[in-house]
Amino acid sequence: MNVLRTKSIEQSLEDTDDPEFKLKKKLTAVDLTVFGIGVVIGAGIFTLTGEVAADYAGPGVVFSFMIAAICCALAALCYAEFASTVPVAGSAYTFSYATLGELVAWIIGWDLILELMLGASVVAQGWSTYLVTFLDEIGLGWPDSIGPADSEHFSWGHVNLAAVLLIAVLTTLIAVGIKESLRVNLVLVGIKLFIVMFVIVAGLFYVSGANYHPFIPPASDPISGSGLTQPLIQWAFGIEPQTFGVLGVISAASVVFFAYIGFDVVATTAEEARDPQRDLPKGIIFSLLICTALYVAVALVITGMVPYDKIDPSAALATAFRDVGKSGFATLISAGAVAGLTTVVMTLIIGAVRVLFAMSRDGLLPHAFGKTSPTTGTPVRITVTIGVAVAVIAGFTPIDKLEEMVNIGTLTAFTLVSIAIPVLRRSRPDLERPFRVPLSPVLPIVSALVCVYLMLNLSIETWLRFLVWMVLGFVIYFAYGHSHSRVREVEKAR
Ligand code: ALA
Repeated sequence: MNVLRTKSIEQSLEDTDDPEFKLKKKLTAVDLTVFGIGVVIGAGIFTLTGEVAADYAGPGVVFSFMIAAICCALAALCYAEFASTVPVAGSAYTFSYATLGELVAWIIGWDLILELMLGASVVAQGWSTYLVTFLDEIGLGWPDSIGPADSEHFSWGHVNLAAVLLIAVLTTLIAVGIKESLRVNLVLVGIKLFIVMFVIVAGLFYVSGANYHPFIPPASDPISGSGLTQPLIQWAFGIEPQTFGVLGVISAASVVFFAYIGFDVVATTAEEARDPQRDLPKGIIFSLLICTALYVAVALVITGMVPYDKIDPSAALATAFRDVGKSGFATLISAGAVAGLTTVVMTLIIGAVRVLFAMSRDGLLPHAFGKTSPTTGTPVRITVTIGVAVAVIAGFTPIDKLEEMVNIGTLTAFTLVSIAIPVLRRSRPDLERPFRVPLSPVLPIVSALVCVYLMLNLSIETWLRFLVWMVLGFVIYFAYGHSHSRVREVEKAR
């Protein structure tokens, strides 16, 4: 049984020349950076900052953002080398098919689907929270019984209709073949950046130094009990479960990691970049740098405006301004968040569609599943399947349970991509590498270790859910993908 067979880089590149699948090469480094910021800035900064500051880290969430940024920067360098060497759509899935073999590629593809699909669900829930805040601000309101609910106020059967409607509209747009219009994206990214800067600048006037004491609140017993909700690493080493303190800040890093997710999606646009070798690394690294600076500033401002234990965990940015008597600002921020989060949900759904499409084109999932519709020219079946799955998850599950799942899936993909760098250097030293990770193999190994460390800081229940997802993936691969793989058919025909 050959689970290590690889799809050659030459074959992947050749596929992109197929006239039926050829994409226009017109994106520049600036376009890619805008695209990156468009996907990255989302529910993470608008909702997670408050949740994490209130429950895990206090103002120390600033350090959590920095730790998560270091992890992402290391992985970003690895992604940049890959994207410049193998400029083919499909991101980590394609890279690993070329290096670590089919099984690992399948695992990464399966993880990416988890990342993108659940990511879209979480951001759709964040979107609905801000929509409800906005409607409240302008005096319209939205019934609680069909609005967002966190796990404390959640009962099975509750429907978050706002999130479901958003996903239904976006899925329809994607299925009928709307192009991610760069101009619309640019406008929405502009609004989002404006709102984030606005929070930073306007918020500075309301910062009170007293709220920074203590900057890292002393460790305390966890709010939500110990059991399955404690980080795996605390359980494994018999450390008393706790939140806050230095350990709380580190666990918080593994949660706010969510806010950075998406810069890797830049790598999926590789085929559309005008000069991928030069511009992709720039796009990936610039968007990460800009987002990090903004996140750290927002976290400083919000925890400076409101004592950490008084922060509203669901719509922290808007509520902070309402609490200081600036309702008008709160309305503006909610409206901006609603506009800004829409693009994130849409891009994540498109990303999930692309990965599933690539996997079914390679025969790892049924070919017919990936067929494009003759009328719309888009893979309608895949799009609708993903749309329904995302709507069910966003509509029927509590908001604060999913983001950790997104993180564990993404961190697994980052770990494998990091390991793949030295592997590909050894197996294909001949390839041209316009961008090279400095100090390889040390840096890629450190990158993989940091990712694994953050994963260990996620809760035991997240690990259990992730294991279930992986087992399901293995079952599908061995029951179907392994014997239907196109690479296998080509090998057999030789
Ligand atoms: N990084 C994206 C967000 O924060 C997924 O919404």
